[in-house]
Amino acid sequence: MTRTALVLGGMGGIGAPLSRGLLERGYTTIVASRSGLEANEGQPSNAALSGRSVDLLDSESIEQFCSEFINQWQSLDVLVITAGTAALGDVAEIEPEDLSRMLSEHVIGPFHIVKRLIPLLEPGGHIVFLLSRMGRSPRRHGTAYGTAKAATEYLAASLALALREKGIRVNSVSPGAVSTPMFFENFPNRAPASALDPKDVAGVILRILEPEFDSLNGAVLDLEHTDRENPGLGKTGSTGTVDFRPAIGEHEIER
Ligand SMILES: NC(=O)c1ccc[n+]([C@@H]2O[C@H](COP(=O)([O-])OP(=O)(O)OC[C@H]3O[C@@H](n4cnc5c(N)ncnc54)[C@H](OP(=O)(O)O)[C@@H]3O)[C@@H](O)[C@H]2O)c1
Repeated sequence: MTRTALVLGGMGGIGAPLSRGLLERGYTTIVASRSGLEANEGQPSNAALSGRSVDLLDSESIEQFCSEFINQWQSLDVLVITAGTAALGDVAEIEPEDLSRMLSEHVIGPFHIVKRLIPLLEPGGHIVFLLSRMGRSPRRHGTAYGTAKAATEYLAASLALALREKGIRVNSVSPGAVSTPMFFENFPNRAPASALDPKDVAGVILRILEPEFDSLNGAVLDLEHTDRENPGLGKTGSTGTVDFRPAIGEHEIER
């Protein structure tokens, strides 16, 4: 039977390798973001993807997207929420509107979509949220983004509790810096090797969709990384060097 996956932000830095991986594993894969498939036009694998437009900041756009999705696909096996931007800055630099935008993109919009699409998810369905180290380990410049990501963690955990009776699992992946457009926009001087490879983050998400992880629910997978040009050290976020811990593959699973 064909399985269906929806990746919000599916053409983004983490979303693109994830969407390709889902296609390779036989999922009918739909990517959705403000620009749908347009963001990466011309990529050979895109021909097999379906693209839809949705703006997490706009509840009308979400309603329209969900109604069309329900009409077209009727069932959903995997929903990964890897969309959004990062407004960084401390209290002097961040305005209430920035915090509101972060909460809309990372909490309210995703909640709206999950709520509308729950009826499509069958037992065995899986929802995956992208958290961030900044939401788990406060930074002064995380006033808006980190606060929203901390709230995303709570949302994911509460959904995991609420949906387990339906046999639907909700797990979260929480990386440090990942070398994607979001990262380079915020930290233009950082070397790609000082951050996680987005393929590795996508690989972890693909891995937890496998049947061997069927009992994983309500988990947060914290992804440490090693500076690939300086493998004795692991760097987190943008604020310094921490002790080396195992890289992906031996990640912690916190319950
Ligand atoms: N990169 C990092 O260092 C890092 C670290 C930890 C966690 N994360 C998290 O990982 C996830 C993916 O990040 P990424 O690095 O892959 O970012 P990215 O490359 O910038 O991709 C994010 C995608 O989200 C979509 N998007 C942005 N705003 C949207 C909105 N209002 N409505 C719908 N879609 C929207 C964008 O597509 P459109 O422009 O087409 O809308 C974009 O393709 C995010 O949740 C991020 O917070 C990233």
